[in-house]
Amino acid sequence: MIRSFVRGSGSALPANLVTNAQLADQVDTSDEWIVERTGIKQRYIADEGETTSTLATQAAQKALADAGVDAKDIDLIVLATATPDNTFPATATKVQHALGCNGCIAFDVAAVCSGFLYALATADSMLRSGMAKRALVIGAETFSRILDWEDRTTCVLFGDGAGAILIEAEETDDPAAGVISTKLHADGAQHDLLYVDGGPSTTQTVGHLRMKGREVFRHAVVNLAEVLGEVVENAGVSIEQIDWVVPHQANKRILDATARKLGIDPEKVIVTVDQHANTSAASVPLAFDVARKDGRIKSGDMVMFEAMGGGFTWGASLVQM
Ligand code: UT7
Repeated sequence: MIRSFVRGSGSALPANLVTNAQLADQVDTSDEWIVERTGIKQRYIADEGETTSTLATQAAQKALADAGVDAKDIDLIVLATATPDNTFPATATKVQHALGCNGCIAFDVAAVCSGFLYALATADSMLRSGMAKRALVIGAETFSRILDWEDRTTCVLFGDGAGAILIEAEETDDPAAGVISTKLHADGAQHDLLYVDGGPSTTQTVGHLRMKGREVFRHAVVNLAEVLGEVVENAGVSIEQIDWVVPHQANKRILDATARKLGIDPEKVIVTVDQHANTSAASVPLAFDVARKDGRIKSGDMVMFEAMGGGFTWGASLVQM
């Protein structure tokens, strides 16, 4: 059978670091409130010259170098973002051109904070079907551009960044190798709990992010625990066999509550929300890259990716490194 194997990863952050204390100078908030309610201590905010595609390109270049693969050997780019450089064409095509692998398949996936899970599932399916051999799966966002900086209930929660992984198709007899099992879900009935109040077809503006945080929180813990359970069952593994959980980094309290619900050792949960805040589709590959590069996630480890976001959309994927 053909399976998708992770060969490398990379990430990129804007140069401009903004602490909670700096935000408190502009908005009616405090470092104490943000840390206590979310675990966030700082975030990176893109400057004028930095866009979703420039951050994505940097992350992809690092993933290529990490894997020792030449850009011209990439035949698929799937980029998850809710903050594309332009309404069209896909930001993935800009990244493709910047990398110099023109001609390969390149498109964006829109599933907001679950975007990386949707992108990974899409690329994995295309690799398994033989349509492509080597793929860059990227999550990249500049959420700072869609935040209402007057709304303290949302603007303190998000940051900008990008993460990328390189996956390669390879024949194997081992059903527990590479990307083992993925489950995705969506529920359009929850639109109004987390959305952007603009868009080309409605207001002809970009709009601003709107969120009913408390309700999203409640749904997140339930949906994430459920989908993780589905993946574990489908893969035929136990929770104890998972070496690392790499969750979407929205709120430290969501990470803790989900781990508690499933009986996952908190030591196995990768946490970067304190450093990056919520970077939407970028948060899972960013956190993964941090934990791979600092030596925690190693070859052979069983890693669970999971995310939940606007739509709602949510999903989880079990991957052996
Ligand atoms: O990535 C997609 C998924 N997104 C999420 O998963 C986000 C999920 N939700 C959350 O993380 C949390 O619900 C929040 C961090 C957004 C909010 O935390 P909370 O504990 O649910 O607080 P709350 O919304 O119930 O607000 C509590 C109080 C309110 O004051 P009152 O009404 O109790 O007087 C808010 O006005 O905190 C106030 N507040 C703030 N105070 C200082 C809200 N934002 C701020 C702020 N600084 N930035």
